Amino acid sequence: MTVKLNDKYMMQAVKPDDVKAMQSEIDAAHKMLLDGSGEGNDFLGWVTLPDDYDKDEFARIEKAAEKIKKSCDVFVVIGIGGSYLGARAVIEYLRSPLYNNLKKDTPDIYFAGCSISAQSLGEILSICKDKDVCINVISKSGTTTEPAIAFRMFRNLLEEKYGKEGARERIFVTTDKAKGTLKKFSDEAGYETFVVPDNVGGRFSVLTAVGLLPIAVAGIDIAALMKGASDAAAEYTATSDIEKNDCMKYVALRNVMYRSGKSMELLVNYEPYATLFNEWWKQLFGESEGKDKKGLFPASVVFSTDLHSLGQFVQDGSRTMFETVVSVAEADAKLAIPYDEANVDGLNFLAGVDMNDVNKTAMKGTILAHIDGGTPNILIEVADKSAYSLGALIYFFEFACGVSGYILGVNPFNQPGVEEYKKNMFALLGKPGYEEQKKALEARLN
Ligand code: PA5
Repeated sequence: MTVKLNDKYMMQAVKPDDVKAMQSEIDAAHKMLLDGSGEGNDFLGWVTLPDDYDKDEFARIEKAAEKIKKSCDVFVVIGIGGSYLGARAVIEYLRSPLYNNLKKDTPDIYFAGCSISAQSLGEILSICKDKDVCINVISKSGTTTEPAIAFRMFRNLLEEKYGKEGARERIFVTTDKAKGTLKKFSDEAGYETFVVPDNVGGRFSVLTAVGLLPIAVAGIDIAALMKGASDAAAEYTATSDIEKNDCMKYVALRNVMYRSGKSMELLVNYEPYATLFNEWWKQLFGESEGKDKKGLFPASVVFSTDLHSLGQFVQDGSRTMFETVVSVAEADAKLAIPYDEANVDGLNFLAGVDMNDVNKTAMKGTILAHIDGGTPNILIEVADKSAYSLGALIYFFEFACGVSGYILGVNPFNQPGVEEYKKNMFALLGKPGYEEQKKALEARLN
């Protein structure tokens, strides 16, 4: 098993009978997800995606990635939410958060269109000015404001640099298969396009072209990523038995926690390379579960960094949370602590010790301290830091999220709440058709 759940540190906080009592609800939700009888069943393409994907498109993604690697110094990925978080999470996790500073034979990668910040977009544009650039615009709807603004600016930049013809070779678009303005526009302009399948929502789309093209450009083995997800899918779909399926055990434990008043789940990683993975996970669970006034609030930390900021609260603040700790068993980077003759810092007892061992020990000590303080810990152990294992971990959380959402009684695959801010923003900005709302909102603001 690539991803294992260790419930040893939960035993102080949960009664085994409460966990067992979840089984019948899990059976029903697991079945609903697999037979497509639940709400949002038109968005279940991700369940079988690791096996049932478009192989021709996959080959085209690999080919486009090679072309991009050869023809640019900088690759700009334009997208927001589910249209960028997965790719960025995987690239930082498997390459590095300092990817752009590494010595490498793949292009630098910047993520744009994921905010409305003039400074941020302006900086990326200026970095690109004297470099060879390719871009990948990713938007399922094709109408999302943030990436649309960024796309306008980068299209101008590329057309100024290379002319319309040249720009065409450098613009790659990932969007809806047939409908939508971006698809129509791309076809007319002659850009190469990739598909966000109709039945896969943004936050479940990392294993489609949405994630795979940028990930492949970063030099990551996307076939291994898919294989990891595929093996995980076989494992988690085979049975809903909590005792045989760690993904379902995770669902059981987090729901027992929720029902006992622990309404916040803190995802804990001990490696900065997982910072964006935490962000991906927060979107996955937050957008899927947080509706109808229900849901666990997904928060995240990177320890030991955040032990020096949020550690106090986790140890001793209001007792409303539990932690889900992700631990990678086999690290790929090792660094031994040097011996120092003067030993002014008193650290010679650690001389020669690999920092990974110190980090793991910090994790064990922290888990024990936090459970003693009343914050239960679910431990998820991942075999190693490989594309294969990360594919499995991604699927672990996606599948858990689908089943958990059904147990909660919500539709895990829509996000109606995200529209509310957009309506107000468009009205206040004076978008045609929003005149009445504009007046009403301005009256409240003035
Ligand atoms: O998960 C989701 O559905 C959202 O985060 C979307 O991915 C995000 O809003 C971007 O939408 P689009 O891809 O249509 O531009």
